[in-house]
Amino acid sequence: MNREEFPMLKTGNIYLDNGATTWKPQSVIDKITEYYTKYTANAHRGDYDISLKVDNEYENARDLVKEFINARTRKEIIFTSGTTDSLNIIAEGFFKSNLEPGDEIIITESEHASNVLPWFRLAKTNGVIIKFCPLDENHYVTLNNLKKIITNRTKLISLAMITNVIGDLRPIKEICQFAHENNIFVVVDGAQSVPHIKTDVQDLDCDFLAFSAHKMCGPTGIGVLYGKYELLDSLEPRNLGGGMNESFDTIDEVYLKPLPTRLEAGTPNIAGAIGLGAAIEFLNCIGMDNITNHERSLRKYLINKLKKIPHISIINEESDSGVVAFNVDGIFAQDVAVYLNKYHICVRAGNHCAKILKNEVGVKNTVRLSIYIYNTNEELDKVVELLKDKDKILREML
Ligand code: ALA
Repeated sequence: MNREEFPMLKTGNIYLDNGATTWKPQSVIDKITEYYTKYTANAHRGDYDISLKVDNEYENARDLVKEFINARTRKEIIFTSGTTDSLNIIAEGFFKSNLEPGDEIIITESEHASNVLPWFRLAKTNGVIIKFCPLDENHYVTLNNLKKIITNRTKLISLAMITNVIGDLRPIKEICQFAHENNIFVVVDGAQSVPHIKTDVQDLDCDFLAFSAHKMCGPTGIGVLYGKYELLDSLEPRNLGGGMNESFDTIDEVYLKPLPTRLEAGTPNIAGAIGLGAAIEFLNCIGMDNITNHERSLRKYLINKLKKIPHISIINEESDSGVVAFNVDGIFAQDVAVYLNKYHICVRAGNHCAKILKNEVGVKNTVRLSIYIYNTNEELDKVVELLKDKDKILREML
């Protein structure tokens, strides 16, 4: 991959906050600009050339997503504003009416807020019970641990495929198999996995998958809700309005369009969807396996170096993704991030929206480096060099 394809590179920053969002290649920027400069029109509403062009581009983006995650049909791909939106739509539109008081939802303490709070709300409004799967000594989910807390009231397991701080890859395929044998639904938060590893929803057999474009070289404000056709078809649309209805006359005569349109009320994020399509084409050109391997090799390189620094405690030494969380002993994580920023190194510090992870790992805040395709060993060398000298950090951090 040619790093020069990312204009942000010219800013001179070393960007290691890819778990938060990624840089965009020129091809994605151009595709969005092209929509705004060459064929701006609404989608699914016009009978003129540029509007038909919009329809083609928008629906082509859906096809690209379908192929990218290997959905059975394009009708299983719904554009949303992102992972958070998708998970809330699933919780409120599907599980709210399908779960009874006393039914159980299993999550873990390492989930991102988006995969905790919608379920907490269902606990408040519907009386469902939230249970936390115990994690192993590396903070991983194992099928055995899951089995220990599943009861005949368990109706849903909702897990990130890769978590945003520990960076562990969960055995979702095995979990789905066991869950389905026990009539349990599986929701997958793919925000940190879809951008980094090959995703095949048919192979995983998950019931729903949520992910965001901006963490995979695409624009912000657009994401995907994948669901098995029959589940999406019974999901109550959160929004009613233009585009998604077939006809309406009276309160009792409202007829909705079939999937996927019935779940996309109003003018969609056209530029976003088209930009996501371009991002997928970009990632496909590199190859998802190459992306995974690149990140894993950089991670290994970084871990080997960080391990040699006595004042650094790594939280997730064993994980198999490009996320590395650590602390410099005795220095507040935010201060380390501010120190690195002086050298134009962008990292994230804090709890990373995984606010109950502290119960599991015993520390509230960490410094997180999250790697992507454009990162290099040389960039990591610079970070390691700056972290080696604790006195320098203490001197310069404020
Ligand atoms: N979920 C994003 C992160 O982990 C924002 O940084």
